[in-house]
Formats: sequence, structure tokens, C-alpha cells
Amino acid sequence: MPDPATPASRPRALSGMRPTGKLHLGNYMGALANWVKLQDAYDCYFFIADWHALTTDYADPSQIAPNTVEVMLDYLAAGLDPERSVLFLQSRVKQHSELFLDLAMISPLGWLERVPSYKEMLENLAHKDLTTYGFLGYPVLMAADILLYQPDFVPVGQDQQAHVELTRELARRFNQFYPRAKAKNPGGILRAAQVHPLYVLPEPKVLLTPSPKLPGTDGRKMSKSYGNTILLSDPEPVVRQKLKTMVTDPARVRRTDKGDPDKCPVGDLHKVFSSPETMAKVYEGCRSAGIGCIECKSWAADSLVKILEPIQHRRAATTEKQAIEILNAGSLRAAARAEQTMIEVRSAMQMTLTTVAPA
Ligand code: TRP
Ligand code: SF4
Repeated sequence: MPDPATPASRPRALSGMRPTGKLHLGNYMGALANWVKLQDAYDCYFFIADWHALTTDYADPSQIAPNTVEVMLDYLAAGLDPERSVLFLQSRVKQHSELFLDLAMISPLGWLERVPSYKEMLENLAHKDLTTYGFLGYPVLMAADILLYQPDFVPVGQDQQAHVELTRELARRFNQFYPRAKAKNPGGILRAAQVHPLYVLPEPKVLLTPSPKLPGTDGRKMSKSYGNTILLSDPEPVVRQKLKTMVTDPARVRRTDKGDPDKCPVGDLHKVFSSPETMAKVYEGCRSAGIGCIECKSWAADSLVKILEPIQHRRAATTEKQAIEILNAGSLRAAARAEQTMIEVRSAMQMTLTTVAPA
């Protein structure tokens, strides 16, 4: 567990997810599994971005709190470890809103309008009115989430890369306007300055998460919005049933038709989750029509169930109450670290009356 009062000896990593509800295998392979590994080598901060959910779900926020609990249960089930990582809830750390406000002052509108996901999401979510100030400002809030913890790395998938780029540009702009205040008392409140001697808001690097091609049951990318997901919390019978309905190589219409696992979403699942031995049986059996899709799918289900077993075991061992308590405790730790940064930010921005008042 990183101690907020001492400079970290290991590099710091920070990432988060919106509380979309129970997480699926795509979330796991594209982010969570990687986060779990990062805990060995980094001081990690992982959070649930509930204020971000509000940028799109402001008209009906009723699901944000229940979804937050589900995501936290999945975080813990997947192996995020509150003994080693700070797991927290964004809205519990008010410093996010303060830094968001500060960064908003220096965020050129053109930068925000040019964020690639902005127009895309406006179109994709046409059923929601997203012509709001909050939605346009989403990348500024994300920049605040990140810079608040002065991390070295931000592990994200490719879809978030542009946001981290913008975060870096905002950090650079901030540091130009507001150079670090001279530390009169290097052992005192500015001791974090020893970690980042040059800038108040160092530019973090993207740590690109390699994400394998993971199709959902309809063959498209696994995504909650397509309704084609396999959840980390799906019981075995549900996993098997979902696999049964999964689309296959369209060339393999009858049992006697030969197929190609490289053209089959089930084949893609095998590539991610199955052993080399099973893979070999799949390639051979599919291409020779020696096996049927039903059998092949049952092997894929076996592989998934094996991955999910320890995750579901941990999920069953954690109550909602425990998950919330862990989130509360983590949020206190996060706030302590965030406040260190904000002391530097306020000082650099000269928003500290005490520094200008006569002695
Ligand atoms: N925008 C991210 C997403 O939609 C979630 C997020 C919010 C985030 N703030 C962040 C990710 C800071 C990494 C760092 O998935
Ligand atoms: Fe896909 Fe397996 Fe059927 Fe081949 S045998 S088409 S890989 S489900």
C-alpha cells in the first residue's frame, strides 16, 4: 500500500472505469487482467468514475450507485487487492472537482471539440441529449482524475489514448502558466516536490493495454451496448447457454461442411482462452469437419469456465457491505494523496491567501 506521506519508490499507475454495471470478459481482457498484474510492479490507484457516468446519464442517475457496487465487486473478484492498491470512488474525492475546475479555466474549447470520441459519441448516443457543458468537458475531468495523482503511467486501451494525450497537453499548458512555487520549506508541505522537482503536474505516459480480439456472442466486438457480453459473474449454465447461441464460421452451415477457426468468433475465443492442445484439436477438427460446432463450443465454454472459476469464487466471498467499506477506506487514502497535489496546485496558481497576506 503506497504511503501518501512518503515519495513512492515504485512508479505510480492510475486508471479507472465508468460504473457501467457488472463487468464482462471484454472489460477483463482489455483492462482488469492487466491492472491485476500491474500491482506487482507499480503503486496503483484504480477508481470508479461515477462523475463520468453522470456526463451521459444525468437524466436518470438511478443506476450509478448500484452499478458502482457491482464494478467494485468485480474489481475485487478479478484480483485488485486493497492491501496493495488504492481502490477508490471518484466522487468521494472532492479534489477531482477542484482540479477539474482549475483545468477548465485553461482548456481551449477547440481542443475539446476536436477530441475524436466527442462527435462520435454525440452520434452514437443520439437518443441522449449530450449537448451539455459537462459532456464537452469530459476529457478535462479525465485529465483532472489523472493529474491529481501525479502518476507516471496511465494504463488504458487504445480507445482512451487520445484522452491521455489531451491530459498531457493540459499538463504542459498548466506548467507553463503556473511554474512550481519555490519551496521555502522543502521538508514540509511541499515534500512531494522532491519527487517531481520541475513541474507541479508532470506529464504521464500512456501504458497501452494490449487487448486481444474478443468477440461477443453475435461476432461483433464484445460490448455492453451490443448486448452480446459474457459477464465475469455469469454462472456456468449461463456461460454454456450463451456459447450455444454464439455465431460461427458462416461457411459452416451443415455438420459436414468444413470450417475455419480463423473466420469464426468461437475460434477467436479459443485463441484467447484455450490451451494449445485444445487449439490444435479445434483447428484439425473444424477444418476436416471431424468435430461439430456444438462440441467445439462446449470446449470453448470449458475454457471460459476455468478462467471465471477463481473470479467467481472471490466474488462469492465478498459481500456488498465489504466492497463498500473497502471503497470508503480507499477513497480516504486517495483523498490524502490528492490533497498533496492540490496544495501544490493552489500554491502554483496563487490561490492561497496566506501566501500573499502580510506576515
Ligand atoms: N474515460 C474512461 C472510460 O470511459 C474512464 C476514465 C475516467 C479514466 N477517468 C479516467 C481512465 C482516468 C483512466 C484514467 O473508460
Ligand atoms: Fe467455429 Fe468451432 Fe464450428 Fe469451427 S467447429 S466453425 S471453430 S465453432
